[in-house]
Formats: sequence, structure tokens, C-alpha cells
Amino acid sequence: ISLRAYNTFGMDVKARFFATFSNVGELQDLLRLPELQNLPHLILGGGSNILFTQDFEGVVLKNNILGIETTELDADYYLVKASSGVAWHDLVVYTLEQELGGLENLSLIPGTVGAAPLQNIGAYGVELKDVFESLEAVHLASGELQTFNAEQCKFGYRESIFKHELKGQYIVVSVTLRLRKKPVFNTSYGAITQTLVSMQVVEINARAISEAVCQIRRSKLPDPTQIGNAGSFFKNPEISITQFQALQQDYPTIPSYPTATGQVKVPAGWLIEQAGWKGRRFEAYGVHKDQALVLVNYGGAQGNQVKDLAHQIIASVQEKFGIQLQPEVNII
Ligand code: EPU
Repeated sequence: ISLRAYNTFGMDVKARFFATFSNVGELQDLLRLPELQNLPHLILGGGSNILFTQDFEGVVLKNNILGIETTELDADYYLVKASSGVAWHDLVVYTLEQELGGLENLSLIPGTVGAAPLQNIGAYGVELKDVFESLEAVHLASGELQTFNAEQCKFGYRESIFKHELKGQYIVVSVTLRLRKKPVFNTSYGAITQTLVSMQVVEINARAISEAVCQIRRSKLPDPTQIGNAGSFFKNPEISITQFQALQQDYPTIPSYPTATGQVKVPAGWLIEQAGWKGRRFEAYGVHKDQALVLVNYGGAQGNQVKDLAHQIIASVQEKFGIQLQPEVNII
């Protein structure tokens, strides 16, 4: 079966076997099949953070577990439990409809709820970990359902234990968020304040911030249903203050954000643009014209072409700035 409709890059590769599951029991039944025990497998959510460079000679499992429920935790918080196959933005819309704040800055992020904790999704000053309570995951080897709290997930910048020690060992089946009854809004990101002003918002609330975030994202990130892409292709690199100050001598306008570890985070999009890549197109693929951090498939590109482009960009940024970019998408 072709995986083209199951990855937002739109790569036309094939999977040897393909199965979907819509509840935990179905998943556990699938895990007992000999094909699954003997062949490599891949769990797909929205397919929005993946670059396929070849056919997948194993079993692809597509997560279709749906459903969201809200319960009251205490005087200050609600718990919102969402199944992992729910589209992330559908969850955001659900919470806005329930008049719940906390997810507004994370509006319009492609992908599913189940994929969100794997890379601790983040945008506009908020990360999943800020609202995360726990998740449930099925252990592939034993079929057992287990619960992980935030600490056990070891969240970092686009990181969690599920990309490292526990890579490939669990399938997330639900995520529970803890949302404040009296939300605290994060408008620290300059573009949000500017957009709220241009929208002539009088009272700041979750809906207004969500609308601002949607406007910002639509203005610079390509819509994957129109142009194939997987969002940011690289992570924003963290460098030492010494290295940053040296770069600042040569590039006084270099943007930066401080990090919790005392390092300096530099926007990869800026580095890539300065290295001359922004908007460059090579027939069916290229670098997005409005956001250099996003690589795009205009239709018919091969995964390897995009991967080669990524390597050229890495080499060029390394040569110009002495900074090693790391891919953020999973390359298969
Ligand atoms: N910039 C450039 N040229 C570009 C792109 C960006 O000079 O082509 C500069 C901008 O001027 C700005 C800075 O880089 O000063 C930051 O740009 P932007 O606000 O677009 O955010 P980003 O750092 O490039 C990160 C996340 C995005 C997230 C935005 C907003 C990563 C890898 N990416 O991008 O996440 O939406 O911040 O919070 O951390 C994703 O992970 O897929 C993703 C889209």
C-alpha cells in the first residue's frame, strides 16, 4: 500500500503491511500477530514529522483511537484526556469550545495527540510539558498498558524518553493534560502581541491568542495539504555564550533566545537564510520562501532528494557559522 496519503511530505513510498487500530484491545491483538513480531514496524500518527526515503519493508500501524473527555481535578484544574489518534488541532479546538485555556499557543500544529509527547511539541513560548499530566502507552513487547508522568517522560526541547532510551518500545494511546480553570496566558512572543494589536483585540483570552497564532502560522508555514512539508526540518541549535559572542562580532543582527541551561539558542531559519538557501527551488523540492527552516515537496520529489538537500544545508551552515544543525524530523 502507498503511504503517500499518510505523510505530510507527500512521499510516495510503499509499506509491505499496513493495519489500523481504533482501540487499545485492537492494538494488543495486532501486537500478537507473527508479522509484527518478526518484521520491523512503524507507528504512524499524522505522519507530520517524518521523511520517507525508501519503501518500508515491514508493518505500518496507523493509529485511529479517537475520543476526548474532561473531568474536574480540583478547585484549580481540569483534566482533559485525549486518545492518541485525535488530531492535535482538533483537541485545541475542543478545549477552546469548553472555554479552557492552556493550548492556545499550540494551535494548528500538525500531527496527532499521540505524537505530541514524543517530541514535546512547542510553539510561541509554550511546550506540551507545561500542561502535561500523564500519558498511557502500550508496551510493544508485552502488550501491557502503562502510565507515565511528566518526570518519567524526561521532556526536553523537542525531546522525550520515547526518542531515546525507550525509542520504538511503546505506543502512546492517550494523553492527559492539566488545564487551569483560570488560565495564565503567554504572550511573550513578539509576533503574538503584534498580531493581537492588528486584530484589534480588546480582551485577551484563549480564543484570541489561538486566532493570532493561526494567523502567524498561516502567514509563514506552508499548508501541508497544498505543499508537502513536515514543519521545521531542523532543530534550533544551542551554542555556548562564547561562540555566540564571537558570531555577534561578524553578524551583529543574529537573533537569539536564552535557554534554561545557560546556552544560547539560535534560530536555524536565520542561519539557513543567511547561508543563501531561503526560497531556493530545485525542480520538485526546495526551501520554503517564507520560512527557511521548512523544506518542501512541490509534488513528485523523492525523499532522498530532500535528504540530500538537508545534508547540503547542514554542510553550508557548518562552513559559514561553525554550527552543526540537527534534523528535527524522523528520516526513515
Ligand atoms: N528567521 C529568519 N529567516 C527565516 C526564518 C526565521 O531570519 O527564514 C528568523 C526570524 O526572523 C526570527 C527567528 O528566526 O527572528 C525565529 O523564527 P520563527 O518565529 O519563525 O520561529 P523558529 O525558531 O524558526 C520555532 C519552532 C517552530 C515554532 C516556532 C514558533 C523549532 C525547530 N521550530 O521556529 O516549530 O512554530 O518556533 O514558536 O523549534 C516545528 O517544530 O515543526 C515548528 C514549526
